[in-house]
Amino acid sequence: MTAKGIENLLREDRLFPPTDEFTAQANAGAELYSEADEDFVGYWKRQALERITWFKEPTEGLDDSKAPFFKWFADGELNISYNCLDRHLESGGDKVAFHWVGEPGDTRDITYQELSDDVNRFANGLRSLGVEKGDRVAIYMGMVPELAVAMLACARIGAPHSVIFGGFSADSIIDRCRDAEAKMLITADGAWRRGGIVPLKDNCDEAMASTPSIEHCVVYERTKQGVPMKEDRDVWWHDLVADQSATCEPEVMAAEDLLYILYTSGTTAKPKGIMHTTGGYLTGAATTHSQVFDIKPDTDVYWCAADIGWVTGHTYIVYGPLANHTTSVMYEGTPDFPNKDRLWSIIEKYGVTILYTAPTAIRAFMKWGTEYPEMHDLSSLRLLGSVGEPINPAAWMWYYENIGGGTTPIVDTWWQTETGSIMISPLPGITTTKPGSATKALPGISAEVVDKDGVPVAPGGGGFLTMTQPWPSMLRSIYGDDERYVSTYWSQLPGRYWAGDGAKLDVDEYLWILGRIDDVMNISGHRISTMEVESALVSHPSVAESAVVGAADDLTGQAIVAFVTLMGGTESSDALNDELRKHVAKKIGPIAKPKSIIFTPDLPKTRSGKIMRRLLRDISEDRDLGDITTLANADIVAALAVQANEQRKED
Ligand code: WT7
Repeated sequence: MTAKGIENLLREDRLFPPTDEFTAQANAGAELYSEADEDFVGYWKRQALERITWFKEPTEGLDDSKAPFFKWFADGELNISYNCLDRHLESGGDKVAFHWVGEPGDTRDITYQELSDDVNRFANGLRSLGVEKGDRVAIYMGMVPELAVAMLACARIGAPHSVIFGGFSADSIIDRCRDAEAKMLITADGAWRRGGIVPLKDNCDEAMASTPSIEHCVVYERTKQGVPMKEDRDVWWHDLVADQSATCEPEVMAAEDLLYILYTSGTTAKPKGIMHTTGGYLTGAATTHSQVFDIKPDTDVYWCAADIGWVTGHTYIVYGPLANHTTSVMYEGTPDFPNKDRLWSIIEKYGVTILYTAPTAIRAFMKWGTEYPEMHDLSSLRLLGSVGEPINPAAWMWYYENIGGGTTPIVDTWWQTETGSIMISPLPGITTTKPGSATKALPGISAEVVDKDGVPVAPGGGGFLTMTQPWPSMLRSIYGDDERYVSTYWSQLPGRYWAGDGAKLDVDEYLWILGRIDDVMNISGHRISTMEVESALVSHPSVAESAVVGAADDLTGQAIVAFVTLMGGTESSDALNDELRKHVAKKIGPIAKPKSIIFTPDLPKTRSGKIMRRLLRDISEDRDLGDITTLANADIVAALAVQANEQRKED
């Protein structure tokens, strides 16, 4: 990993300064950096007052008296759905909020007025089922507009939502609903994916057998295959809203009231419920969405091609864009269905001006070839974005040339579920970009690369990515586990936020993110912990022990490689290999399915019994293994290396 980063650094000397035309019209100017450097709290407070409509304006900025339990704008009062909807209606209710494209080809254009009516009716429906301010609501849906409606309705009545990615399994729903003690589950009969139906309601039914806190399940009808509805518990969305009024008074929320919980992987098997609150989160979302994507609400058609089930979708499909009165595209399906030109045809149809996607998608587009983008007129695009993992310079250049026509700026945006909004990114009218670098911290954000003692590295050095100051959209804690919040993020280096990523600083003090340094893999831009996959494997009756690593992969960034020791008497076979991969998919979701499983009679361990993950990673990536004589079972390593090599050839 490190070696690769250095290589990029040495090779990459292309510079892309913004054009004068772009700079002249850009939302964000260079003066923001100096303003924020002088007084970062004042800078953020100005953003909060200018971008948000408060019921009661805050007088306070940052409260660090109980650090690291920071508060922002604590005496302010607001409602996020009011900011995303109501305040736009008088002047712009007719404006399209979402051009929605269903995977089978159906489309809907939803105006701000229609979205507002839907949200108000659904919010009234939630209240009629007994949901009150503070109650947690789990949402497990595909990419339909009703997913955004459900989130905004929760925000309207002050019920924190917990969105569960529609690709997760029943077990994942159970973990998350239990941890949050969710009172309600909102889902759909199914979701379309590559022409097939993902059985969302079936998964919920399976989960609800083990989630006693769920009182009601609201089901949106999308795929219409027919699903069982349990009396008194399950309610159809259309029945719930049928007689509801399109007016629902928004709850007055304190700035620090919980807006949502979103679970993300950590180094243990238990996902962390990342908590985001109301005023600071919206400030970060609206500010960065406007500055980084240079949003012009009257002319842009913006498309964040992520799933709302991840934080990218929360901040840059729902809250940021709607707060900024943006017209967005929302797409239900995959980029290769029915054809590999699906994204490009949508861009042409709606005249998309800004596209935000992930390196893993860009690498897939590269692999499919330029004939697909060439089939369509992409000249409406004026800005491109990337998020989720380091973008390799080759993919950056391909994106720039083949999608951006060699003219649009690219913003490579670094952030995390925990940070709530973009932290490190070019500002497109100001920053000279370098392919592969996320460049610099945004105004009001203070990123620093430090060594293991917390000493900042000099230009040219590498180390750990940290933040030296709090920021408004930061996580407030881990749901139900303040101690884990402190130990995970604030105890590695006292006084600093620990991101868990490695980074390098080049001679121009540009940041190059190298990826996770903990036992968390990054598969297609999504974090999955090695522990989670290991516990899923070990829960299978044939598995005695397993060690999982993320190995470099051309397409997905990292791919999951599992080393598995079987129970005595169990024989390895292709069938078992297949079964175990399916087992993990069932336990966690298809995204966590190992790419390859290597059966081994033993795992390489130190003499104290610690599994040598780094060695396993080296084996998976076919690297020189160096001195292994200190291992308790060195002989196993050579055998594993041979096996891994054979697997690679098969793949
Ligand atoms: C991790 C956070 C933030 C939305 C999607 C992922 C990696 C994210 C970049 C980037 C290099 C990146 C980091 C980070 N990451 N963006 N532009 N360059 N790495 O959210 O699941 O919370 O994952 O994704 O490793 O820590 P997440």
